[in-house]
Amino acid sequence: MTTTVITNIASLVTNDPTLGDGSPLGLVQDAALVLDGDRVVWAGPAAQAPAADQRVDAAGRAVIPGFVDSHSHLVFAGDRTAEFNARMSGQAYKAGGIRTTVAATRAATDAELSANVARYLEEALRQGTTTFETKSGYGLTVEDEARALRIAAEHTDEVTYLGAHIVSPDYADDPAGYVDLVTGAMLDACAPYARWVDVFCEKGAFDGDQARAILTAGKAKGLLPRVHANQLSYGPGVQLAVELDAASADHCTHLTDADVDALASGNTVATLLPGAEFSTRAEWPDARRLLDAGVTVALSTDCNPGSSFTSSVPFCIALAVRDMHMTPDEALWSATAGGAAALRRTDVGRLTPGTRADLTFLAAPSHVHLAYRPGVPLVSEVWRRGVRVA
Ligand code: NIG
Ligand code: FE
Repeated sequence: MTTTVITNIASLVTNDPTLGDGSPLGLVQDAALVLDGDRVVWAGPAAQAPAADQRVDAAGRAVIPGFVDSHSHLVFAGDRTAEFNARMSGQAYKAGGIRTTVAATRAATDAELSANVARYLEEALRQGTTTFETKSGYGLTVEDEARALRIAAEHTDEVTYLGAHIVSPDYADDPAGYVDLVTGAMLDACAPYARWVDVFCEKGAFDGDQARAILTAGKAKGLLPRVHANQLSYGPGVQLAVELDAASADHCTHLTDADVDALASGNTVATLLPGAEFSTRAEWPDARRLLDAGVTVALSTDCNPGSSFTSSVPFCIALAVRDMHMTPDEALWSATAGGAAALRRTDVGRLTPGTRADLTFLAAPSHVHLAYRPGVPLVSEVWRRGVRVA
């Protein structure tokens, strides 16, 4: 393998608190990073960097771990411009809009769906995302859910079965029948393609008992649970997620003290998705309350055509800092190491010996500029597994 030293890094975020300033970000000023093929083998002050076969000059830019976007819904067709327009004219967000995307997705060919996933992934990559999760949930038949997951698996290992996004319109009069399908034939067809099982636990989607049945059935098939929880209203989702040791409870917008206590006591990451609150004009999740209680927080895009049509983690970081009162350090950690925790991964989201060489260069001296200079395309270079890809 060829070794590469990247030097002249103004500030390096390692997310290894044993390095640099000893903060959770493990921030090293005037840093170097050494890669061996697709792995990081050394990180630290440039003055102490070991020799390598080749040298790359970061020219005073900041280097951060590639973003880990642990929540997106990319297998879909069409868009919902009219719905967004109506919302910005005062209409409330309703999960029922999902049906519009279900119809467009069912009508699309495999090639169209795959091209869409590739297109949004390319967008995300150019904005610094090197690991992403994506879900089904716009098919809602055995065939359409399985095909969505098969297509997702062509693009990522982090694939989530969300047959329980809403009750399929085909089962409008028989929601119990739909839960039987999601926990039966649909699960059988989907499990081979997926790592995770998810459910939208919300009024108008699935209640606590239905969500428990769906997640438990998925677990029995070897899938690991994650939950769309407490997005539009208070409810049982967060506590169910902790009880079932879900990797992540996502949204967490409406939380009781008992919900926060449950998250603080368990292994479930709270994934915050401020693109959704931005695009639905909803109230912001209380990130400070979660962080101050010691909850592990991830920050992701929720990229989907209804509630959050952004693939940009930098945009979400800016929102998290400005509107959810996270510090720039907390937001950066949550979008990298936090996302990795939400996917139960230790090989990504950090730049320390042994981790994957997934790195994002910023045209700025530090990661703070991601929030300080919102909307500015600061991602100047992206490497995945030691290879420059954007
Ligand atoms: O995470 N909440 C459920 N699902 C998506 C929205 C999907 C849609 O509106 O199409 C979300 O926000
Ligand atoms: Fe979502």
